[in-house]
Amino acid sequence: MPETIVSDKKAISRVKLHIQGLDENIQGGVPEGHLTLLSGAAGTMKSSVCFNVLYHEAVAGKNGLYFSLEQSAESLVNHMVNMDYDMRRINLVIVKELSDLKTRMAELQDQTLGSLIIVDIGTIRKEIHDVNTDNNKSWLNVIKNVVKKIHVEAGCPLLVLDSLSALYVLSRFENPRIELFYIFEYLRDLRITSFLISEMPLDGSKYSEYEIEDFLSDGIITIRLTPFRRQVVREIAVVKMRATNCNNDIFSLEFRNGQFQALYGGQNPLL
Ligand SMILES: Nc1ncnc2c1ncn2[C@@H]1O[C@H](COP(=O)(O)OP(=O)(O)OP(=O)(O)O)[C@@H](O)[C@H]1O
Ligand SMILES: [Mg+2]
Repeated sequence: MPETIVSDKKAISRVKLHIQGLDENIQGGVPEGHLTLLSGAAGTMKSSVCFNVLYHEAVAGKNGLYFSLEQSAESLVNHMVNMDYDMRRINLVIVKELSDLKTRMAELQDQTLGSLIIVDIGTIRKEIHDVNTDNNKSWLNVIKNVVKKIHVEAGCPLLVLDSLSALYVLSRFENPRIELFYIFEYLRDLRITSFLISEMPLDGSKYSEYEIEDFLSDGIITIRLTPFRRQVVREIAVVKMRATNCNNDIFSLEFRNGQFQALYGGQNPLL
């Protein structure tokens, strides 16, 4: 489905980040169909922020697909339960075997709740011995096929890839510039709103591994941990967001009362 030209800016549909204080600063959310890089160092809550989007969208009845390449589905869900997310409000589906995919997709047809489908690639990797991981295209193709299947069969407009960095380790691109162009175009053509997690060094010197991802993506959001004396503050900024009048300031990111909040960066949260 190709991108279409809108006649009015109000016709650009948006997906909320469900971060209070930040959505208001990006015209209400990320334009549908956009590919957004979420970049940050270890422990900056990249996975939580992405899960939070899919969770709230599932509560609202939309299906979302979460590819977890390294962290197990159990570890991810337990982390979110510990943050007081109530999984009874959504239909949580965990796929650990690719052969199960068809049955699990069929079950979704009877669902009244929105589904959050976690594809546990870490477990699938351990289970599948016949996929030759030396062939650098295998895992990328597995992921592309699953995205297409779930998108078509379950009507799934949202995707999280956790993480792009783990995909690079699995796929070993020979020509990243060309290969990444085709992956990004593949997702764009599906018109699936995608959040691609990019694990980046602490110094924040770059947003992505090859840096070409910065230009290929429609949006970049970065999270960092900033030390201030003996305290550490989590900070979030929207570096770019195409088709969006966005505030690029740095906000402090907090998780309070079951809700992500971005506090305006103009105030020092530590004072
Ligand atoms: N209830 C909570 N409130 C606030 N922060 C929490 C809560 N529970 C866990 N955390 C923080 O969340 C962090 C981990 O979040 P998450 O796994 O989303 O980060 P990440 O950036 O994806 O990490 P990784 O780089 O390991 O993938 C932990 O370091 C922990 O301090
Ligand atoms: Mg993570």
